[in-house]
Amino acid sequence: MVRLIGLKKIKTAVFISGNGSNLKNLIEFSFSKKSPISVDFVVSDNSKAKGLNFSKKFKIKRKIYSFKIKNPDKEILKDLKKNKIKLICLAGFMKILSKNFIRNFKGKILNVHPSLLPKYKGLNTHLKAIENKEKFSGCTIHYVNQKLDSGKIIIQKKVKILKIDTPKTLAKKILKQEHILYRKALIKIFS
Ligand code: GRF
Repeated sequence: MVRLIGLKKIKTAVFISGNGSNLKNLIEFSFSKKSPISVDFVVSDNSKAKGLNFSKKFKIKRKIYSFKIKNPDKEILKDLKKNKIKLICLAGFMKILSKNFIRNFKGKILNVHPSLLPKYKGLNTHLKAIENKEKFSGCTIHYVNQKLDSGKIIIQKKVKILKIDTPKTLAKKILKQEHILYRKALIKIFS
């Protein structure tokens, strides 16, 4: 992967679909000296995503793309290139990117997933982990390849599942760890 040269931070786009707590975390991290990235662009498939407020608050360029049209990826790619984006952080982004898109950013797309991959790919990870009586779940930061939630794992954090945990309480505990882990992953990759 690209190494950090001098003081220049890596121009990064964050893709979101919902609340954007991971986006907020990455933006706040990007302001610190330790951060190898700057967040320069926010992409969303959802004009109602709450997380878009953070791009407004921190004055970061944002754009909403409709995934109802056949190939939104082409337009996104064009905009990312225009904005000299070198890294993509998926953060609660609920759409699947095309093979062509991933090829264009090979090895430069990261994702946060709320389970200990390879366990529980896809949706409803917390419910599945509880139903299967797992003692632990957690979160994973991984590279994105062409298979869902299957790219190379960068870093993981275990979270204990208590008897009293519901999918909601577990999601809350894991989300907190996601924020810490995304920062760690970026430092691990680029320093
Ligand atoms: C996170 O748990 C992420 O792992 C999952 O969706 C959630 C998004 O949360 N894919 P937020 O929008 O970053 O608050």
